[in-house]
Amino acid sequence: CGIVGYIGEEEAPSILLEGLKRLEYRGYDSAGIAVSDGYNINVVKKAGKLKELENIVFSSPPAGTAGIGHTRWATHGVPSEKNSHPHYDCHENIVVVHNGIIENFQELKEGLEAAGHSFVSDTDTEVIAHLIEDYYNGDLKDAVFKAVQKLDGSYALAVMTKEEPNKIIAVRKDSPLIIGKGQGENYIASDIPAFLNNTRSFYILDDGEIAEVSKDKVVIYDKNGVSIDKEIFKVDWDPEMAEKNGYEHYMLKEIHEQPDALRRVLANRVSTQGVNLDEIGLTAEELKKYSQIQVVACGTAYYSGMVGKYIIEELARIPVKVDVASEFRYSNPIIDKDTLVIVVSQSGETADTLAGLRLAREKGAEVLALTNVVGSTIAREADRVLYLKAGPEIAVASTKAYLTMVSVFYLLAVQFAKIKGTINDDEYMGLVSDLIRLPELASETIKVSEEKAKEKARYFIDYDNSFYIGRNFDYTIALEGALKLKEISYLHAEAYPAGELKHGPLALIEEGIPVVAVVTRRSLYDKMLSNIKEVKARGANITAVAIAGDAEVEKAVDDVIFIPECNEFFSGLLAVIPLQLLAYYTAVGRGFDVDQPRNLAKSVTVE
Ligand code: G6P
Repeated sequence: CGIVGYIGEEEAPSILLEGLKRLEYRGYDSAGIAVSDGYNINVVKKAGKLKELENIVFSSPPAGTAGIGHTRWATHGVPSEKNSHPHYDCHENIVVVHNGIIENFQELKEGLEAAGHSFVSDTDTEVIAHLIEDYYNGDLKDAVFKAVQKLDGSYALAVMTKEEPNKIIAVRKDSPLIIGKGQGENYIASDIPAFLNNTRSFYILDDGEIAEVSKDKVVIYDKNGVSIDKEIFKVDWDPEMAEKNGYEHYMLKEIHEQPDALRRVLANRVSTQGVNLDEIGLTAEELKKYSQIQVVACGTAYYSGMVGKYIIEELARIPVKVDVASEFRYSNPIIDKDTLVIVVSQSGETADTLAGLRLAREKGAEVLALTNVVGSTIAREADRVLYLKAGPEIAVASTKAYLTMVSVFYLLAVQFAKIKGTINDDEYMGLVSDLIRLPELASETIKVSEEKAKEKARYFIDYDNSFYIGRNFDYTIALEGALKLKEISYLHAEAYPAGELKHGPLALIEEGIPVVAVVTRRSLYDKMLSNIKEVKARGANITAVAIAGDAEVEKAVDDVIFIPECNEFFSGLLAVIPLQLLAYYTAVGRGFDVDQPRNLAKSVTVE
């Protein structure tokens, strides 16, 4: 989703719509604006593309020089007018636009309903409007400040009230929000490109900061409510860079969005109480009846299924088969009503995956879809859906969608294991608390690995062939890493289970050939170290992706990219990040079109 705000001298609607247009890539299934004329706030919203909203706003624009707006990309539930933003309280006094997910909204909603508030939408956002209404006592900033103390989850908010028409309050936590500074006018947006045509000076809010924005002034308060002097960020991007929020390519932008994507996919599904997958509507009894799981997918989605296989088998002891959809659809699979078929597809439209889904249903199996696109064909035809919530992914080479797919497999594995009793309560809670840390660890991984990956990419540029090795989970990560390199840098990369090298590929190892070794599994550490030595002895140039502080691997290889210490079941998710960056910088170094590699398409809807 994307949010905008404007306060100044001009009529707000067209400025808000312009801003929303530039944020449309963040969402495009419904949109709305709220405009204050100094006395009242008029809300106009519409399901469908922004164009639909534009048509009604242009035919009868709400008057006013202050307003907020929103463009939505549904992550659950149907996109409808009722669920589109802005949302308001009982008296249509407090108006809110929100990007993020409020995890404790149900609990808050029940409390507010008991106190007499009535709700019109199914959204978590409406709760925020009512909560602010509850605290409102003549000072909007104060009420917002109090309300956000009650919220668990992520949010970027812009809030107005008709009582104080000369201001908009903006606040964020774990969702981006910026304030643009103009002359006699100011702007609010999810990101800088929304208003880059209007100003080049921005405040980038940090978590917990609240901004009180009026037409001549922006006052920023820290998370304790104390006003602070915040540095202005001057932007000198060209228009193309602006579209990518300052990144040179969508792929790099999407790699950096991964911690946020993880936050979204895990929100409401894992908390200190445990994993909650009630949304798929399966009882523990139903889950127990599955004797096997069959994963069907293509490309990167297929490799996420490989991670799924290893973790579900290891934790929950359910046999998992993984097939590429183009093979599965022409096989005669041994599946039945006791098989859970999991189809994985970012786009939800891949023709082979869809055919696999249909075949599975014909055979009487139950189909669970993991997809990123609400309302996609695969989402509609599956029996159950878990949405990936990665946000729109534009680069052909998938990054953030992959991370969300893998994390959904983690959730499933942990939950299945609990239900099947293959782990005890302590083990379960241990895994849960490690899952909760993943977004933060992903963010740290990007920080600690990017420069190193960039540096090492210079070496890869000169070699036509490379090998990626690993064992167990680490092998599946090697597969995904090699795919990334092939897709965008047009260099051949082959992933191999490290123990299998001696049965063939070792013959191809010669002086200088790049080998990437993924070494995050403690239990297979010594075996991996021997395999590393095997290739090293034949002259390979080895880059290891290993756990921070691993001095032994560091000694055995040419270069090491460390990832933070993490539960070994989940470290694969972090290990893939440096491999994405390595592929990205290699492709950039070779001067190719990273976002749209030759011969490939983002979504392959033909066989
Ligand atoms: C294409 C894309 C890949 C993607 C695959 C499956 O090949 O280039 O990046 O992994 O399709 O797409 P899906 O939308 O089904 O995940």
